[in-house]
Amino acid sequence: MKALVLGGGGREHALVRALSLDPGITDLHSAPGNPGISELAENHVINVTDGLAVTELAARIRAELVVIGPEAPLVSGVADALRDRGIPVFGPDRDAARLEGSKAFAKEVMEAAGVPTARARVCRNAGQVAEALDAFGPPYVVKDDGLAAGKGVVVTEDRAAAELHARECGGRVVVEEFLDGPEVSLFVLSDGKHALPLLPAQDFKRAHDGDLGPNTGGMGAYAPVPSAPPGLTDEVMGSVVRPTLVEMNRRGARYQGLLYVGLALTSKGPRVVEFNARFGDPETQVILDRLSTPVGAVLQATDTAGLGAIGSLNWKPGAAVTVVVAAENYPGAPVKGDLVHGLHAANALEGAYVLHAGTSWAPDGGVKSNGGRVLNVVGTGADLRQARDRAYEAASRIELRGSFHRTDIAERAAAELQD
Ligand code: AMP
Ligand code: GLY
Repeated sequence: MKALVLGGGGREHALVRALSLDPGITDLHSAPGNPGISELAENHVINVTDGLAVTELAARIRAELVVIGPEAPLVSGVADALRDRGIPVFGPDRDAARLEGSKAFAKEVMEAAGVPTARARVCRNAGQVAEALDAFGPPYVVKDDGLAAGKGVVVTEDRAAAELHARECGGRVVVEEFLDGPEVSLFVLSDGKHALPLLPAQDFKRAHDGDLGPNTGGMGAYAPVPSAPPGLTDEVMGSVVRPTLVEMNRRGARYQGLLYVGLALTSKGPRVVEFNARFGDPETQVILDRLSTPVGAVLQATDTAGLGAIGSLNWKPGAAVTVVVAAENYPGAPVKGDLVHGLHAANALEGAYVLHAGTSWAPDGGVKSNGGRVLNVVGTGADLRQARDRAYEAASRIELRGSFHRTDIAERAAAELQD
């Protein structure tokens, strides 16, 4: 099977890596890709939100599977364009991707489907925002209605900061009740009818150790999640995933691709914090590491034969941890263009490897930073402790001026193993 992966971050590097390990994949392409991806796939420079450009490339290379990594091409209708041309695609159509593209729409669907989530109000002006903040009380949760690369949400005790964020969002905002409890990401593959859950993973959203600092796209992740209650996946498939797929079908927006269910495990049970219409980043980096079923045919089946024929997925024993190496000043305006050193040394460590998230080629053939999240260092092992040690040992071999990473990814989960 010839496959094309759209995107150029750590998630896409993980997808390309998983596809490269699939014996059924004969030819691997990416657009735009990145220096790490180029070791495994042929990179093409196109605008990946342009349905025509993507379709032309996919047709030219005779792609039998196009995997859409980021949300922007989904929301701009790239999956629709590919389906119109009969090219199998992993990712929802534009109408279905609104589950991520509009938080107000996602809330409406959840309400109609009876999905457990935070109470919320869609606000159109400062008066409505103030009323909603009064109604729910602190901590305040204010979300930009539209796409904001994981940075549109502010959770704060500070009323003035909550109001300021609402003003800065400009348009519609969603104000909601604070959900208290650890977060778990559950990703589900869907053909619109059948759904297949992946391994739950834990993401670390805040920029700094101890869950301090601003929200980011994610600073690290691990899988599996030993603290996830047994039966969590089955419960969420029943209370969240199936009702949502039914409701989307009822609205004529069949959901095919990956449904990202962000959950808070509250004292009253799991509640949906957010839906995304794509693989999460960096959770995908650890989840795909653990998947032993070849991934190509599974992703393709969401758009062709259906997942009914796939049965269940197989997972490797052990664990994976990824640590994000971020550029100075991330998640603000990150410093770019500095040389990255130590990639070979980090990759040489047993059970560890480095995925490129925000890099580009330096003129001398080296690699330089080109984004907020620059690298994802993955460690694997027999358990979370070993995976974590390896990830941090490899991360210590990376040199990038001004960069930082959290030092507490999977720390608690690994410590609990010993108790
Ligand atoms: P979202 O973009 O909706 O995923 O939100 C980003 C992050 O903000 C989530 O992963 C949570 O850490 C936090 N968050 C969002 N909504 C809530 C909520 N209702 N209660 C507590 N934290 C939230
Ligand atoms: N890691 C969070 C996200 O992908 O949205």
